[in-house]
Amino acid sequence: MRHVGLDFGTTNSAVSLLDDSGLRLAHYGDEDLYRSVLYFDAEQVDGEVPAAPLSGPDAIREYFEADDSGRFIQSTKTWLGSRLFTFTTIARRPWYLEDLVASILRNLRRAAQTDLGPLGLRPVVGRPVNFTATPDEEANALGEERLVKALEMAGWGEPNFVFEPVAAAYHYERRLSKDELVLIGDFGGGTSDFCALRVGPSFQDSEHEILGTAGVAVAGNAFDSRIVQALVAPHVGLGSSYRTEFGRVMEIPASMFKLRWHELSVLRTPDTLRALRDYHRTALQPERLQRYIDLLEEDLAYRLYRAVESVKIELSRASEAQFTFMDVSQRVLRSDLESWIAPEVGRIESCLDGFLASTGLGADEVDRVFLTGGSSFIPAVRNLFVERFGADAIRAGEELTSVASGLALIARDRGA
Ligand SMILES: Nc1ncnc2c1ncn2[C@@H]1O[C@H](COP(=O)(O)OP(=O)(O)OP(=O)(O)O)[C@@H](O)[C@H]1O
Ligand SMILES: [Mg+2]
Repeated sequence: MRHVGLDFGTTNSAVSLLDDSGLRLAHYGDEDLYRSVLYFDAEQVDGEVPAAPLSGPDAIREYFEADDSGRFIQSTKTWLGSRLFTFTTIARRPWYLEDLVASILRNLRRAAQTDLGPLGLRPVVGRPVNFTATPDEEANALGEERLVKALEMAGWGEPNFVFEPVAAAYHYERRLSKDELVLIGDFGGGTSDFCALRVGPSFQDSEHEILGTAGVAVAGNAFDSRIVQALVAPHVGLGSSYRTEFGRVMEIPASMFKLRWHELSVLRTPDTLRALRDYHRTALQPERLQRYIDLLEEDLAYRLYRAVESVKIELSRASEAQFTFMDVSQRVLRSDLESWIAPEVGRIESCLDGFLASTGLGADEVDRVFLTGGSSFIPAVRNLFVERFGADAIRAGEELTSVASGLALIARDRGA
């Protein structure tokens, strides 16, 4: 039997296969990282050729090599539980959220099959505990429904859903020689998710009892947004002014500068650009707003993303780092980052404390804490667990692939 797992992440996706020769992850060329992004090149955007966007490493390569700007779209998963975004127009055609997600999933499936062979139609697929920042059953149902539709459109068949942190627990369990009560914390690009369960040799090969789950849609992207607010927004016009038609000087509304990745991807609409050009005409510092217009028109948001991500990654390791983007260059301290993201870390902490209270688990009952997901590298996130459980209780590893690996293990236990 071939058991297949699919982790469709806000930032990175992965596909796993468990068969007679063991458990492995799909590779895409020489990479095992598949960014959950879409790229329509300039010709496709102009409608000159039928739109067939690239994703994963192909999208990244073409985006960076292209001379003319196309449309780069990222963090589509963030919209799954929200009715605020339905479609964006590309090549004069509406692309609904399901179309965008299905395109990524179709490309990913094709690339994974090239490496792993046929993947069948019964994947075990991860989903966050909560799709939104405030737990909402309707939003979760909508998120799941849209994901089912996109998976079907992309040829994956009917998914069997599992909470992402539960999958990480199955991955973690593989290395155990004795039973443990483990708390999992999975900190990705879009969501921070928790679960607790007993794992180990006596539980393997059977469906595990989940002692509790919790989650909140606050993670790496929300941290990025704070970095952008602090380092970039003032350079693209935040806090600058324009002259109204009656000659009054007013500040450009701060709401124009939210600059969140999932929104930036679909922000390049005629309305937004018109509004920006209107402000630009009478702006007191037009050169700042011009940077914003360039950012959207020249499709630079993903370049900005990479600049922000690289400074964030460096600050997980070092106490200072250099941020460079366009003509902005600034030294950043880890303590700066920690103060910018404190509200988000606070929301994650409340979710964790709520989770511990609802499960009734005390620090002495939890044997181990397994931290995974790219954002678990951030010291401020990690410290939430060091403070509560002590450094010795913490385990980590395979941050970007543990969920996918666990999904294939669950597929075997469920006979999927
Ligand atoms: N060393 C690091 N320090 C800080 N953040 C990091 C580091 N490495 C990766 N990240 C961040 O981790 C996030 C990606 O992690 P991951 O691949 O686990 O997310 P995901 O599975 O795509 O998202 P989700 O599970 O929320 O849908 C991004 O926000 C990325 O910037
Ligand atoms: Mg994830």
